[in-house]
Amino acid sequence: MTHKVFVTRQIPEAGLAKIRAATDCQVWPERMPPSTESLIQGAKGCDGILTLLSDRIDADFLEAVGPQLKVISNFAVGYNNIDVHETTRRGIVVGNTPDVLTDATADIAVTLMLAAARCIKKGIENVSQQQWLTWEPMEFIGQDLRGKTLGIVGMGRIGQATARRCHFGWGMQILYTARSGKPQAESEMAASHVSLDQLLAESDFISVHTDLNPGTTHMFSTSAFQAMKPNCVFVNTSRGGVVDEDALYEALTSGSIFAAGLDVSDPEPLAGNSKLRDLPNCVIVPHIGSGTTSSRNAMAEIAADNLLAGLSGNPLRHQVEA
Ligand code: GLV
Repeated sequence: MTHKVFVTRQIPEAGLAKIRAATDCQVWPERMPPSTESLIQGAKGCDGILTLLSDRIDADFLEAVGPQLKVISNFAVGYNNIDVHETTRRGIVVGNTPDVLTDATADIAVTLMLAAARCIKKGIENVSQQQWLTWEPMEFIGQDLRGKTLGIVGMGRIGQATARRCHFGWGMQILYTARSGKPQAESEMAASHVSLDQLLAESDFISVHTDLNPGTTHMFSTSAFQAMKPNCVFVNTSRGGVVDEDALYEALTSGSIFAAGLDVSDPEPLAGNSKLRDLPNCVIVPHIGSGTTSSRNAMAEIAADNLLAGLSGNPLRHQVEA
């Protein structure tokens, strides 16, 4: 029996070719995501769907598409777009694509740290707006990384990869918060497991790698930013929902922190009228953490394998648990 599948966006051929070969598959052809209605329309009567992090999969969606659905394969490591309690309750398996984007995402975290620390946005604007008039002894003065303290919030795979780059590259001391201690990181790079309060108070750089859940939503609020050092560079490559954007704006404009680098926002895309857009000390890129050829190809392969395994009732390569 050929399974019916809906793929909610064009993804690399490395995965799509496998899906086409094994299923009766429809691929959403547009650049913009399907609306809720189109998502339901596309998935109705399907045995499996391949989703992106911008597709909201909740109880209403699952109710509307009907009981045929067996597997949801998310083309992402994060899966906060899926109500996993609801899928579990309905016996639908959910897959994700960890590991293969760890290095790419850690590279973007470090890119943002450097860019924000060294006033790169202001420098690029200076050149593009024909303001590079002379060598400026007192302008574009940033922060060093060498020997500074980096606080990692969420010491999973990507947090550790970011810490490794900074510890071995710039001799940075590593503080971290996590649900459990990470003995490997402690012995490898003398990382210290600390409270969030200590991390906020002592870090010169803070890089966020936690997942988004009710406990981490808006964990970076006014009080968190006020607890940071004035030279602090704050970087978020996890999910926009962990940050209260108004509080971040206030922190960046009042001087309570030095700069920020963001790969994620809430909502995504960043609101057209977000006040963060025009701040010279806020570097923002459009959620490109996993954006390398090899990461995206590998994500596509894993997502395809997860989908096909779920359709045939086999264990997924990476299955998400509620
Ligand atoms: C990207 O943010 C992902 O979760 O893969």
